Amino acid sequence: MAKIVGGITTSHVPAIGRAIAQNLQQDPYWKPFFDGFAPVQKWLDEVKPDVAIVIYNDHGLNFFLDKMPTFAVGAAAQYCNADEGWGIPTLPPFAGDAELSWRLINSLVADEFDITTCQEMLVDHAFSLPMKLLWPEHETPPVRTIPVCINTVQYPLPSAARCYKLGEAIARAVASWPEELKVVVIGSGGLSHQLDGERAGFINKAFDLQFMDSLSTAPKWATQYSNEELVEQTGTQGVELLMWLTTRGALPGEVVERHRNYHIPISNTAAGLMLFECR
Ligand code: DHB
Ligand code: FE
Repeated sequence: MAKIVGGITTSHVPAIGRAIAQNLQQDPYWKPFFDGFAPVQKWLDEVKPDVAIVIYNDHGLNFFLDKMPTFAVGAAAQYCNADEGWGIPTLPPFAGDAELSWRLINSLVADEFDITTCQEMLVDHAFSLPMKLLWPEHETPPVRTIPVCINTVQYPLPSAARCYKLGEAIARAVASWPEELKVVVIGSGGLSHQLDGERAGFINKAFDLQFMDSLSTAPKWATQYSNEELVEQTGTQGVELLMWLTTRGALPGEVVERHRNYHIPISNTAAGLMLFECR
C-alpha cells in the first residue's frame, strides 16, 4: 500500500533561484536560509520517497486572470519550468506520473473536489525552487511529481478549512493506491509577506510562529480564520500559507515535527521551513 511518509513545508521567493545560480549559499545574507534545509535533505536521503505531491500556487504562468481554477492537478508525463517574469534561470523538466495523477484526480472528484485537470502544465518558481532546495545535488529531483495548484492570486480563494479538507482527501487517495510507494507531500508558499500596496514589506513574526506551532499541536487552528483575516494577519501574499495547511491536512495518523527553520526576511518574505514525519 502507498504511504505518505511525511510532509515538508517551505516558503518560495524568486530571488532564491538567483542565489542558487550564483552559488551564494554561504553568503551571510543567504546562509541562515540555506542552512535550514540540510536536515531535510538528509531526511529525504534516508527515506527516499518515490513520489512527491507538490502543493503550490501558480503566479500567473500556467493560469492567468482570465481563467483561474481554484484547485488544479497535473496529469502529465513531465512538467516544464518557465519564467513568469522574474528572469531567474529555468530548471530542466520535472518527471511526472500521469497514471498516478489520474488516480489522484479520480479519487478527489469522487470525494467531491471538482478540480481542473491539466495534461500540460508549466510550473513556476513556487514548484521549481523547493525541488532545488530539497535535492540540491540532483539535476532533476529523484521523485515522480504530481503538482497540485491552489489559487491564491485572484478572489475568490478557497477557505483555509476547504484547503485542509483537500489535504485530507489527498491522504485518502494515496491510502487507496495498492503499490508499495513512499509519498512525500511538499507545500510551497508563505509565510507572511506582502509585495505591493500600502503594507508592502509587511511581516508578522508572532503570527507565523503561532501558525508553525499550530501545525504540530493543533493542526486545524488556522482554519478558524477567513482569508480576509489571514490577509490581515499575514499580508496579501502571506495567504499562500494555505499550501502549508493543505499539506498538513494530507498527513495521516500520528505526525511528528522533525525540523523547522524561520528566518526573516528573504527578499520581502518571512522564510519558514518545516519537516513532519508520519509515524
Ligand atoms: C516574493 C515572494 C513570493 O512568494 C513570490 O511569489 C514572489 C516574490 C518576494 O518576497 O520577493
Ligand atoms: Fe509566492
